[in-house]
Amino acid sequence: MKRRTRLHPLHHSTRLDDFRRRALYALIAVLVASGAAWLFVHLKTAEDAMPSPLEPWMMKIHGAAAMLTIYLAGTMLYGHMVNAWRRRRNRSTGCVAAATILLLALSGYGLYYFGGEELRRATEWLHWIFGFAAPPLLWWHISRGRRSMLRYMHGE
Ligand code: HEM
Ligand code: HEM
Repeated sequence: MKRRTRLHPLHHSTRLDDFRRRALYALIAVLVASGAAWLFVHLKTAEDAMPSPLEPWMMKIHGAAAMLTIYLAGTMLYGHMVNAWRRRRNRSTGCVAAATILLLALSGYGLYYFGGEELRRATEWLHWIFGFAAPPLLWWHISRGRRSMLRYMHGE
């Protein structure tokens, strides 16, 4: 009898399983919501007033979601990113998505450890802008990816 190699289906496919796809969407939603709430409360509080007790809570939630997002992105590196790259599929918007996550992680690190007024300001702006840009950029990547997937399945 001919011996068949039995590979796990995920090894063939660049697609994310439902659990990771939903987890990614949920984490991005939590990151944007906690980031936006922090920003709203922070900007509303006067310079000389006591910071709102909401601020540290928003950052605790944000930090937890941020760590899980980096972990999740790590699980996607080979099966999704490298695999799709090698098949030359959805490369440009994939790079944009990967760069966005990387920039958010790097600027997030900067928010913890960078000192100096100017560098800190620049890091904050970078983080906020890419933070709010992340959902539309990711959506762009996903919608392009889905279309390319249909073409791929129909062998075009
Ligand atoms: C070089 C980097 C990347 C490449 C080449 C790439 C490629 C692709 C392709 C080809 C698709 C279409 C569906 C498929 O066949 O898998 C897709 C969908 C998707 N990508 Fe990426 N991607 C990259 C990075 C990322 C990153 C960094 C994220 C988010 C952290 C991401 C999240 C998604 C999601 C959520 C989908 C929709 C999944 C689905 O419908 O199964 N991708 N990507
Ligand atoms: C992978 C994604 C992300 C990572 C790794 C990340 C990481 C971080 C880290 C480490 C901090 C500092 C926490 C602290 O001071 O206690 C932070 C703060 C913040 N993040 Fe994110 N974040 C991500 C996505 C987002 C998104 C999507 C938004 C959208 C609005 C956002 C908005 C903010 C804001 C407003 C702050 C407070 C900024 C400040 O201290 O000036 N982040 N983030």
